[in-house]
Amino acid sequence: MAVNEEHKSQIKSKERVSERGEVFTAEREVNAMLDLVANECLRPDSRFLEPACGDGNFLSAILKRKLAELRRKYKKSNRDYEKQAIVAIGSLYGVDIMNDNVLACRERLFAIWDEEYTAHCKGDASDEVREAARFIIGRNIINGNALTLMCVDEEGKDTSAPIVFSEWTLISGTQMQRSDYTMSDLLTYNDNSVEDGMGNLFALTEDEKEEGGIFLRRYITHYKKVQDYGD
Ligand SMILES: C[S@@+](CC[C@H](N)C(=O)[O-])C[C@H]1O[C@@H](n2cnc3c(N)ncnc32)[C@H](O)[C@@H]1O
Repeated sequence: MAVNEEHKSQIKSKERVSERGEVFTAEREVNAMLDLVANECLRPDSRFLEPACGDGNFLSAILKRKLAELRRKYKKSNRDYEKQAIVAIGSLYGVDIMNDNVLACRERLFAIWDEEYTAHCKGDASDEVREAARFIIGRNIINGNALTLMCVDEEGKDTSAPIVFSEWTLISGTQMQRSDYTMSDLLTYNDNSVEDGMGNLFALTEDEKEEGGIFLRRYITHYKKVQDYGD
């Protein structure tokens, strides 16, 4: 899939519209809405959650904006570009109840990310970093029910597993910290998170998070090796 994606239909079938309310937002509307938070779309670490993401119309447009800014900013440093491109992909979260949408969203985000990464870093681009990006996308785009906050099976039925989001933070140089939280705890502890649908999901301070006992697990590793720790 090319970064300049072709215009696509807003509806897949009448059944899906009536069963799941599935009507995709047109690119023009997506971009008009993103223009309202244009500066946030430029920062690689500015986090966005699309709670009924479909195949990622908002997330993919945000990713393109973030990567375009990185390309402009890190013309001369492939190393810094690569690190920040991982931060950028780690900042995008989505949930959808339809498994095919989740798979399509993950593929779409990876295709956009990889095309930009490969074009920018050329001979310095590596499969290890591509795997890191894929892993992060797989964790951040979740097949779940945004109303019950539970993961779902392939038929869209709730399982016993809660939706868990990983917070990805570059903590020093090349070290990436992954901290996992249930979506339920994030929404309970963070009143700001749902105000505008794109609030700061992990807005609590580190002390507040630890005092509240809400993080489930934490891993710290090189940003190229996030796929080597945890599932
Ligand atoms: C109106 S579409 C919007 C898709 C995308 N956000 C966009 O703007 O193009 C609604 C999406 O919500 C999903 N959906 C419906 N109920 C859901 C639920 N309880 N939890 C998560 N996703 C749900 C559908 O599968 C569909 O992809």
